[in-house]
Amino acid sequence: MLGDAIARVQGEVDSLFDALLPVPEDTSARLIEAMRYAAIGGGKRVRPLLVVSTASLFGVAREPALRAGAAIEAIHVYSLIHDDLPCMDDDDLRHGKPTLHKAYDEATAVLAGDALHALAFEVLADPETSADPFSRVELISTLGTASGMSGMAGGQMMDMVADEEGVTYDLPAITRLQQLKTGALLAAAVEMGAILGKVPPQGRAPLRAYARDIGLAFQIADDLLDVEGDVEKAGKALRKDNEQGKQTFVTLMGIDKAREQARALVDQAVGHLAAYGPEADILRALARYIVERDR
Ligand code: IPE
Ligand code: IPE
Ligand code: MG
Ligand code: MG
Ligand code: MG
Repeated sequence: MLGDAIARVQGEVDSLFDALLPVPEDTSARLIEAMRYAAIGGGKRVRPLLVVSTASLFGVAREPALRAGAAIEAIHVYSLIHDDLPCMDDDDLRHGKPTLHKAYDEATAVLAGDALHALAFEVLADPETSADPFSRVELISTLGTASGMSGMAGGQMMDMVADEEGVTYDLPAITRLQQLKTGALLAAAVEMGAILGKVPPQGRAPLRAYARDIGLAFQIADDLLDVEGDVEKAGKALRKDNEQGKQTFVTLMGIDKAREQARALVDQAVGHLAAYGPEADILRALARYIVERDR
């Protein structure tokens, strides 16, 4: 069931990026080709699936939910392009193929990231995403906050600073780091599903609690994969966090405790969905998949 839902969203997001990124016949073609290289194919598309599955709880049509999902995915892909650059994690492999700066060059990778960042907000500002201007502004504001200094970029800064000698994080600091760098965009995905569904902020509390728990569990799973995963399946370089001095739940508490923690978070996340019936089964299955995945 979940496998089918993932495959469906993967196909839909690929088609949407294909439509959003036509290659022009001028000298900007290189930029769009690079954006396509990074954005089409490869990812699990967990964030778009979260938007679509949350929005469907409230009867939102598929097309606007997919557009919001593609907007978050554009931010996510941009964050991966920059994350892989030599000045950050310095990685050569992503989604089973050379990273963008390897396939093209660093300047193109920086610019493709910049342009995907902007594309996300172009998509959200378009009435095709929501006919309601208030909802559009709320979507834009939610994704902006989750991407910037109080979200992904802020967390990436904490992650980079941890590489430096003498900087050690305790559990609350690592929790905050992970919530920012990874949790914020996953939480935005759920929030944006609720925004499209016109759920008032006070009605979003259980969904927010679910999102917060899976966000943390997601990054713990990523850090476990770095230690125990299979490069072929993951499609990216592994066994790097330790060597690069990253500080994670795994470095702090060890593999077994980190896995226990991730599973406890997933149970807790599923518990927050108690008020929903079978219509939330995809969200429940997705929470489980997040910690048991091998890629
Ligand atoms: C990887 O994210 C980076 C993190 C934020 C942990 P995903 O595991 O969602 O990456 P893809 O897009 O599916 O490869
Ligand atoms: C990246 O975390 C989080 C982002 C915001 C991109 P990682 O650096 O652990 O992600 P991977 O392991 O390279 O996918
Ligand atoms: Mg990183
Ligand atoms: Mg990385
Ligand atoms: Mg990682």
